[in-house]
Amino acid sequence: MDDIVVGIDIGTTKVCTLVARVEENMDLRIMGVGIEPSEGIRKGVIVDLGAAAGAISRSVQKAEQTSGLKIDSALVSLAGAHVSSINSRGVIGVAGDTVDEIDIERAMEAARTVAIPSSREIIHVIQRGFSLDGEDGIHQPIGMHGFRLEVEAHVITAASATVENLRKAVATAGVNAAQFVLNPLASAEVVLSDTERNMGAIVCDIGGGTTDLAIYVNGDVWHTMVLAVGGNHITQDIAHGLRLPLPVAEEIKKQHGNAIKADIGLDETFAVQPFGEDQPVRLSRRDLCHIIEARVEEIFDLTLQEIKRSGYDGLLPAGMILTGGSSQLTGMKQLASRVLGMPVRTAQPEKLIGLADKLHSPAYSTSVGLLHWAAALQALPYGSAGKGRKQKGESQNWDTIKNILRRLLP
Ligand SMILES: Nc1ncnc2c1ncn2[C@@H]1O[C@H](COP(=O)(O)OP(=O)(O)OP(=O)(O)O)[C@@H](O)[C@H]1O
Ligand SMILES: [Mg+2]
Repeated sequence: MDDIVVGIDIGTTKVCTLVARVEENMDLRIMGVGIEPSEGIRKGVIVDLGAAAGAISRSVQKAEQTSGLKIDSALVSLAGAHVSSINSRGVIGVAGDTVDEIDIERAMEAARTVAIPSSREIIHVIQRGFSLDGEDGIHQPIGMHGFRLEVEAHVITAASATVENLRKAVATAGVNAAQFVLNPLASAEVVLSDTERNMGAIVCDIGGGTTDLAIYVNGDVWHTMVLAVGGNHITQDIAHGLRLPLPVAEEIKKQHGNAIKADIGLDETFAVQPFGEDQPVRLSRRDLCHIIEARVEEIFDLTLQEIKRSGYDGLLPAGMILTGGSSQLTGMKQLASRVLGMPVRTAQPEKLIGLADKLHSPAYSTSVGLLHWAAALQALPYGSAGKGRKQKGESQNWDTIKNILRRLLP
């Protein structure tokens, strides 16, 4: 079982458990798939523990049945507006003449000791760059001479209670959550190319209840953010605006929706049965797309504000990589490009082997990203993530992981 990796993506609309075998060249052979509609989850956060645990259990069981394997440990996705990130510096005196791995560990440890309230826990500490005796921009200081080593780190924290609920829900399904991975970081492993990562780009995963953002510059993560708005809000707006039951609004959105209302002719209509009507009526498609455009524009406006807040406005020449179930909405890419003023492409998992048909869709970028992440951790010399030996918030060997993850990229 050493080459088996497991990921559970707990989204607002679906729970997706995947089991894969890591083959030569880190190719993933999908062996088990369990996709179940979510319950008890709003905007990426558990609001009903029993219902969420039930959906997770069903998803895990399905993946066990299809793979014929027992799942006892997995990487689990994490999102929600309770996640926040700060940049921190860790400073230490170099112990010997030259910097070694232990110095780096100590510097990372120093970066972790930022003042974090007891109600929050650290999910990731990501090292980004070093300075040695005031000399900035050092990527790999091991073996270099110096006295004072500083590491620049990106620290991602989450509300402890929310994380604990997630851990509990997964445990109820009989699975140990070996490590949590922030949604946009998992998605990025699937959709971001090496060139984009180095030049500067933003990954934007628009799901049902959240929009997950991660900004990459010079090969490293510089900013992460989870916005509590997604495709479900578009559906709710349509339901309210056109007085339709939610399932009908969802269907209409997928069939007739377009994020650019100007692309729709003034005379275009579609048939639907609103509340209080005995017969189907014809409604204006432009009215529908007007509602959609307003909400999608808001999502990208918030994204733009976030980019500005991060200080990377104008420094993302590779633009935006759009993914997540809602990126399938027609006109999404064009509207993103218009609001953000940057190139935009949509992306999804590619090149999977085995039971992968369903997974070649932008809705599964996070789910497949968890497997890449688990495969990279497993390739580490000291053990596997799927076996529960990694601790929460573990950041050691990030460089090794990063190098392995980089090799995984398309
Ligand atoms: N063809 C389509 N056109 C428009 N929207 C779509 C289409 N297909 C799926 N969606 C939307 O995608 C959303 C679900 O996406 P996804 O599966 O990525 O969400 P999730 O991972 O469960 O949620 P989250 O990550 O936000 O917690 C739903 O709001 C759904 O309406
Ligand atoms: Mg998702």
